[in-house]
Amino acid sequence: MTKNKNNKTIWRTRIKKNTSSIFQKVGSSIDIDKRLYKEDIHGSIVHVEMLFKQKIITFKIKNKIIYGLKKIEKEILNKKFEFNKAYEDIHMNIEKRLFEIIGEEAGYIHTARSRNDQVITDFKIWIKSATREIDIILNKVINSTIKLAEKNIYTVMPGFTHLKNAQAISFAHYLMAYIEMFSRDKKRFYNNLNSLNENPLGVAALAGTTFNIDRNYTTKKLGFKQPTNNSIDTISDRDFVLDFLYSVAVCSTHISRITEELIIWNSEGFNLITLSDKIVTGSSMMPQKKNPDLLEYLRGKTGNVYGNLFSMLTILKGLPLSYFKDLQDDKEIVFKSYDTLLNCLKILDEILKNIYANKKQMLELANIGYITATDLADYLVKYHSMSFRSAYQKTAEIVNLAEKKKKRLNELNINELKKIEPKLTNDVLKVFDLENSVNSKRSFGGTSFDNIKKMIMKYKKHK
Ligand code: ARG
Repeated sequence: MTKNKNNKTIWRTRIKKNTSSIFQKVGSSIDIDKRLYKEDIHGSIVHVEMLFKQKIITFKIKNKIIYGLKKIEKEILNKKFEFNKAYEDIHMNIEKRLFEIIGEEAGYIHTARSRNDQVITDFKIWIKSATREIDIILNKVINSTIKLAEKNIYTVMPGFTHLKNAQAISFAHYLMAYIEMFSRDKKRFYNNLNSLNENPLGVAALAGTTFNIDRNYTTKKLGFKQPTNNSIDTISDRDFVLDFLYSVAVCSTHISRITEELIIWNSEGFNLITLSDKIVTGSSMMPQKKNPDLLEYLRGKTGNVYGNLFSMLTILKGLPLSYFKDLQDDKEIVFKSYDTLLNCLKILDEILKNIYANKKQMLELANIGYITATDLADYLVKYHSMSFRSAYQKTAEIVNLAEKKKKRLNELNINELKKIEPKLTNDVLKVFDLENSVNSKRSFGGTSFDNIKKMIMKYKKHK
């Protein structure tokens, strides 16, 4: 690092020797936390306005500081600002530059505050706007899912349990399961905003301050609901970071589950969906290949995001109150998780616009595995007054017969069926029809076509 006369830290009076270069390299967080510059400047402006209102600093000093801060903001925006590792982090880089711009009066800015409360204030405000960005892209993903669902209301496929054919469903119904998950993600992120909505500014280093500050004023100006109650907890608290990282992890889990399923369905064994050439890659050796790399990329990234949550939990575990350098990593972890999630959601959105149902193959697969067996059992309960358990046994016998004769259920004739249950008439044959099977699941939340249409309408209204 080049030396200049300003290249001195604010603790130069107390700490006589220059920081050893290895510590400067690892101890500085400016490369990471410069992302907080806007929040930091905003917080500082509100802070000095409060100091003036409380007659702690003069009108002139307040104005000078605000002038300097706004100038710094412009410099950063225009990439004219020189971030310096020697001043550790964004808070001290800005303070240092303020001295250069307005002179010694810059020294008033840090009255009644510490970097400890400053960093949490900035970070909370940043997480609020990050949450809004995530919400926007989640809406896009939900939109694309609705569009794909709309095209596939009547696309019949097998629904699986244990990856074995279970009951016939509509592909749209399957897709809309993910809309529920992403909607819960939205809620989860917003719930976090509620609990982080307490203003840390003014707790200073850890004990509060001797100055007559007005925390309610800064609370209002910074858009928080109320000031935090306990200065020590405020400095130590990173629950809002865990909540955010957990929400990112859960959302990534949803991404990973849908991508895993699509990868399986895209395999030759299933062949239920086709991926557009826009979202596949080739192989360097096997000329025939079209690989679902992008889907795998998303599934893999989920591992990174889990790791971030676990890193933060581990950093906090056993950490005494209140501030320790260990905490500085919180920002890198959150930024990484946020960037990854945003990127993954954008990719998922692109994928949803570029997949197609192989409708014939879906229907074909739904036709095997005696998938309408439950429909037959239900029919026996409804039309031949059996208990569900006896109907289940009868149906199992019919499935055994079909298996023995190497037939599908809908290939058995009425005489074969009557051998097992004499009461049966031709009317029963309709239960083996797959569309009928899907459409008869009319209970709220079921896969019937009408339910799906109603749900699509509901989602469209609530967007
Ligand atoms: N850059 C530091 C961090 O993010 C700021 C807090 C510094 N406070 C301290 N007592 N050293 O954690």
